[in-house]
Amino acid sequence: MFNQLYSLLSNPMNPRKILNADDARNRARRRIPRIIFDFIDGSTGSELTPNRNIEAFKSINLQPRALKNVSKRKLNTTILNEKFSLPFGFAPMGMSGLSVPNADNFMAKISIEKNIPIGVSTAASSSLEDMRNKAGEHAWFQLYSASSLEETLPFVDRARVAGYKKLILTVDVPQVSKRIRDIRNGFAMPFKIGPAQFIDFACHPFWSVPMLLNGIPFPENFRINGEKKFQRDADRSAADWGFLKKLRDVWKDDLIIKGITHPEDAIKIKKIGCDAIWVSNHGGRQLDSCPSAISRLPIIREALGKDYPLLFDSGIRTGDDVIKALALGANFVMIGRPILFALGAGGQNGLNSYVSALSQEVSTVMAQLGLNSIREINRDCIAQ
Ligand SMILES: Cc1cc2nc3c(=O)[nH]c(=O)nc-3n(C[C@H](O)[C@H](O)[C@H](O)COP(=O)(O)O)c2cc1C
Repeated sequence: MFNQLYSLLSNPMNPRKILNADDARNRARRRIPRIIFDFIDGSTGSELTPNRNIEAFKSINLQPRALKNVSKRKLNTTILNEKFSLPFGFAPMGMSGLSVPNADNFMAKISIEKNIPIGVSTAASSSLEDMRNKAGEHAWFQLYSASSLEETLPFVDRARVAGYKKLILTVDVPQVSKRIRDIRNGFAMPFKIGPAQFIDFACHPFWSVPMLLNGIPFPENFRINGEKKFQRDADRSAADWGFLKKLRDVWKDDLIIKGITHPEDAIKIKKIGCDAIWVSNHGGRQLDSCPSAISRLPIIREALGKDYPLLFDSGIRTGDDVIKALALGANFVMIGRPILFALGAGGQNGLNSYVSALSQEVSTVMAQLGLNSIREINRDCIAQ
């Protein structure tokens, strides 16, 4: 019933499709309360890095090629021995359920329909067991370490018992960084509704009514024996190389390390025997003065050699960006904020139309570059 009410409220006569990431962001900004928009859009410090990521992509040019028969273009690819229909998936994002009720269900459904992976955050709005049931093998569990390996292991065990085959350890959040917009807006988890939030909600009824009817989401992995035990600013600063080695010993399936921007870290991770590295600067949510993630990707690729699996996120907004990241050394890319904005703007239909638009852009750009398969994308695609 809630879903029907949501559909009715959210899309009474506006089936307009989301055409690109800017469209998703602009429409989400209108539909969702400011406190939620800022939680998704915001980053740390003076918020320089998200823009730096995007500008860095803009400064890279692709080299078109002429008169190649590109009538048989395919977007399928393989990463870590899994075959996917598209070269991109959903990055893990905590509390995605704040974008729209049932966001996790929508993402799980679309990950299956489109045959792409979905990163399930430790701080997801649904439990990791629930997400594994809904998204099956498409679900990859993203782990935040606790203050010690012992405190972290229960999550690792839960992920194994739930049937996850891919574990992503995020290493760029030793301490959650200060995000000014969240502090100013009084963003807290569990959610607190004071007068400012009440007015914000009242001004965005298409978001608030379904959200209040469904119940404000909570990071369900932290509901332990009925008690809410989530601490947003949990200290993870004790995790070190020893922690990673021990985790490698206990997790036998694929282990992916997310949040790497330095080639020496990448080489160490490879030596420890991890299965893949995920180049990312967390979309600028952690360090304001870090380099754009895309500028580090070719350096890390060179350090690791051509065959080591590399994933990438931070600043991917368009089909051009997807191709640029693949050309500069990534085997697979992940999409962050645009996913939550598409959900916030139009729920399941919004996400579906953004993913379709992005796929179409990738295909069209491939045509311009004279390519028929993702395998053919390489450094020659970049205009020198
Ligand atoms: C609202 C939000 C929540 C996030 N939560 C997590 C998380 O729980 N775990 C994680 O590894 N990364 C998290 N990230 C980072 C994303 O996985 C990804 O690295 C980042 O969004 C990429 O930057 P972009 O969105 O600008 O492309 C989050 C990002 C956003 C926007």
